[in-house]
Amino acid sequence: MALPSLRERASDAVEIMDDPACDPERLTRTYADFRIVNAMVSGLRGTYRRDIRPALSRARPSTLLDIGSGGGDVARALARWAARDGLRLEVTAIDPDARAHAYATSLPPLPGLTFRRARSSDLVAEGARFDVVVSNHVLHHLGPAELGGLLFDSERLARRCVLHSDIERGRLAYLGFGLGTWPFFRHSFIRADGLTSIRRSFTAGELRDAVPAGWRVTREPPFRLVLRWDAPADSPRLPVPVEIDPRTGQSRPHGPISPGHPPGRPGATDA
Ligand SMILES: C[S@@+](CC[C@H](N)C(=O)[O-])C[C@H]1O[C@@H](n2cnc3c(N)ncnc32)[C@H](O)[C@@H]1O
Repeated sequence: MALPSLRERASDAVEIMDDPACDPERLTRTYADFRIVNAMVSGLRGTYRRDIRPALSRARPSTLLDIGSGGGDVARALARWAARDGLRLEVTAIDPDARAHAYATSLPPLPGLTFRRARSSDLVAEGARFDVVVSNHVLHHLGPAELGGLLFDSERLARRCVLHSDIERGRLAYLGFGLGTWPFFRHSFIRADGLTSIRRSFTAGELRDAVPAGWRVTREPPFRLVLRWDAPADSPRLPVPVEIDPRTGQSRPHGPISPGHPPGRPGATDA
């Protein structure tokens, strides 16, 4: 297997599933295969146990938003685990892509789980809020303006904390994924898009430099980055944006992202 240069982010590389004209059957199988890949590489179970479960209660209902939910398996897993633990959790999963929304809603419904075809900026405009906001494998899809918009929206949507999880670019991640998936997933875009995703992904240092103050980057096994923001205990509700970027449909940070910190200013700290 040829190893491409992973020195820099391949921001121009395009995933097949992001092409609106890609083969719909293979795309459907890709959404289905996300469940297997996420179970192997997302580290979601650890994130649930360590960061989400302690925030939930048996007595009081909590809310969680999954941004960029794709085929919906992350939202389904979180809703299932919380129910199994006897915790009250309402999960909302959003994705603006009609194909992802159609796939996610074609599966049997789960109590406490709602799928919506929407962007994070739509929910901000509605004034929606959630105790916990998460995403998985979304950051590497975004350009700088879209990343700024997503983080800006996340701060407004989260009452308690935000956890954006993604792959970390690196040779071992690329080789491991390439070899581990080589005989499988022949009928979906999982292998090709997974390798492209790794080429598009951030390193921990790059992500720290790309996010505003208040956001923290941690590295988790296997080859994961978790970008976290905690709502300050005494903070007033953050203002909703007045600008949506007509090109991306995302919120456009037009003032300070966090009180006192200009958007895009490197300031994330190591955990
Ligand atoms: C690779 S998919 C990840 C799917 C799923 N989270 C998973 O782990 O299997 C990335 C998704 O993010 C969505 N997306 C990108 N920006 C978004 C935004 N601002 N709000 C909601 N969804 C967004 C895209 O439409 C795409 O379906």
